[in-house]
Amino acid sequence: MGSRIVSFTFVLLCLQATYGFYLPGLVPHSYCPKETTECKNKIYMYVNRLTSAESVIPYDYSSFDFCEAPEGTGQKGISENLGQVLFGERIHTSPYQFSFDKNETCVKVCTKSYKMSNTEDKKKVEFLKYGMLFSYENHWIVDNMPVAWCYKTSVGQQYCSTGFPIGCFVDKQGRQKDACQMDPKTFIDPQTFYVFNHVDIKIRYHSGKAKDWVGARLVRVTVDPRSYKDDKCSGAPLGILKDNKDDVTIPYTYSVYFIPDDKIEWASRWDYVLDSLPNTNIQWFSIMNSLVIVLFLSGMVAMIMIRSLHKDIARYNQTESQDEAQEEFGWKLVHGDVFRSPKKPMLLAVLNGVGIQIYVMVFVTLIFACLGFLSPANRGALGTTSVVLFVCLGILSGYASARFYKTFGGERWKTNVMMTSFLVSGTIFLVFFFMNLILWGAGSSAAIPFFTLVAVLALWFGISVPLTFIGAYFGYKKRPIEHPVRTNQIPRQIPPQLIYTQPLSCIVMGGILPFGCIFIQLFFILHSIWSHQLYYMFGFLFLVAIILVITCSETAVLLCYFHLASEDYRWWWRSFLTSGFTAVYFFLYAMHFYVTKLAIEGVTSAILYFGYTLIMTIMIFLFCGTIGFIACFWFVSKIYSVVKVD
Ligand SMILES: *[C@@H]1O[C@H](CO)[C@@H](O)[C@H](O)[C@H]1NC(C)=O
Repeated sequence: MGSRIVSFTFVLLCLQATYGFYLPGLVPHSYCPKETTECKNKIYMYVNRLTSAESVIPYDYSSFDFCEAPEGTGQKGISENLGQVLFGERIHTSPYQFSFDKNETCVKVCTKSYKMSNTEDKKKVEFLKYGMLFSYENHWIVDNMPVAWCYKTSVGQQYCSTGFPIGCFVDKQGRQKDACQMDPKTFIDPQTFYVFNHVDIKIRYHSGKAKDWVGARLVRVTVDPRSYKDDKCSGAPLGILKDNKDDVTIPYTYSVYFIPDDKIEWASRWDYVLDSLPNTNIQWFSIMNSLVIVLFLSGMVAMIMIRSLHKDIARYNQTESQDEAQEEFGWKLVHGDVFRSPKKPMLLAVLNGVGIQIYVMVFVTLIFACLGFLSPANRGALGTTSVVLFVCLGILSGYASARFYKTFGGERWKTNVMMTSFLVSGTIFLVFFFMNLILWGAGSSAAIPFFTLVAVLALWFGISVPLTFIGAYFGYKKRPIEHPVRTNQIPRQIPPQLIYTQPLSCIVMGGILPFGCIFIQLFFILHSIWSHQLYYMFGFLFLVAIILVITCSETAVLLCYFHLASEDYRWWWRSFLTSGFTAVYFFLYAMHFYVTKLAIEGVTSAILYFGYTLIMTIMIFLFCGTIGFIACFWFVSKIYSVVKVD
């Protein structure tokens, strides 16, 4: 009992640690024309990494030769949390600083000159061109809000993006990318890069005059990028030819306007960015689509339960007085084999242990997210929470893995604990490390600093592994899970199977329905990950996750019944693989997404894309597999406990 309390406290502490990371982001700041203790005057702009929808590799602001903040400016104490660092966010102070409610036009920030005779300079210009060619976007932050860039799309809809392009490339035919939004009448030079070196920033604020708070709160910050050749902020755009030989001078300027706007509430200041995201109607459609699948499956399961199973059980329990040998057929026949330990019990126990760890991590994270703790305003909170939860839940995987392994009659418990600690985490870490090497090579901001890598290893070896050991200790101390029927000495022969009950075809079919439930939602998740937009529809995601759990378990149970009815008792692995196969469909879908929806170029990007996809596939495989396994285990235990066996 005491040990149970200790482990419970551990989990609470873990959660507390996550909590501490993200609470500060939720406090509103007041701004006044004059600086006082409770009201600030200076508004600092922060710059995040640059991303591109056409490349997976993000770059630090300082990788490009933009204006740098003078030493020692900006607020101290801006540091990224674990989630941000792991997922490649880097936030720096910038030279863009404003005083509240002071309109300024055409303020010079800095001027960069490049001599083409100088190789260093040439390299910098080339890199800038590379950034424009791949439509890299700046992500700026004011008062913990993304600086949004709003424009009309070709269909005439207003769209707000959380990033804005650093420049625009006009190709040979005089075409520009959709996101450029430059007036085609004035910019017709083909084969030219136009640098967006000027920004018009509009800051809207909600004044507190009529309310009980001082000063004003910032509710919306938008930016309009422009290109100007000189630092007067008007006139011709600054174009650099594709095969430019001349020296280049880029003046960086900005204008800032403060606009009072009492219509927008501070609490809903994120809405306009989030509203641009995929339409909720499609979300409801996706939920309806999933519900239809769930209803269909539930109908099937109910039919089997009531019709066949009920009849079977009634018949099995009647036959005692009559001639048994003749009457017995179907799943009762294999009662002496159904709990025979699976092949490779170690691996199955380990995969299920880690699967449970992932399962709980996903649901706890989703609950936090639904309660609003992990909203986009809490940068990196989602990543941090899931990583910390995963580490802390090592105790659960150790326990479950040990329990299953003991139930399967395994005895090499040391190997079991080691495998539970290292097999999956190690694989994921290796993939991650390999991608990190690539990112290092590309000089990307997403490359994890050496120190963070050490911190991750410390979390793993210092917290996760010991917790797994503690969990395993308790798992072994418990008696193995008891089966309702005894297993015979000699295994029974399995009759030849029809095509549709053969292992492979069943496994392949088994993944289709769960995948059908989630693929619309998957589109939005992949879209938000790879075009670097925000994802906030956690309510929908939570629903979809529940639906996924239901379909996975129902398909697994259904197929399990068919197998047992055709006297094939090898259900342990099959139940895991049947629902786990959803992950294979996910991988195929991700490939399809890569080819059709993303314009990502370059081998490095491709390797990174598939690296991340592989990690997600592993997670989904374990998540779904475990659900199928546990559902079948429960089902098999139930049905064999109600029939009378000798
Ligand atoms: C700043 O500019 C905005 C928009 O042009 C205007 O509405 C506002 O009154 C100006 N503020 C001041 C203090 O001049």
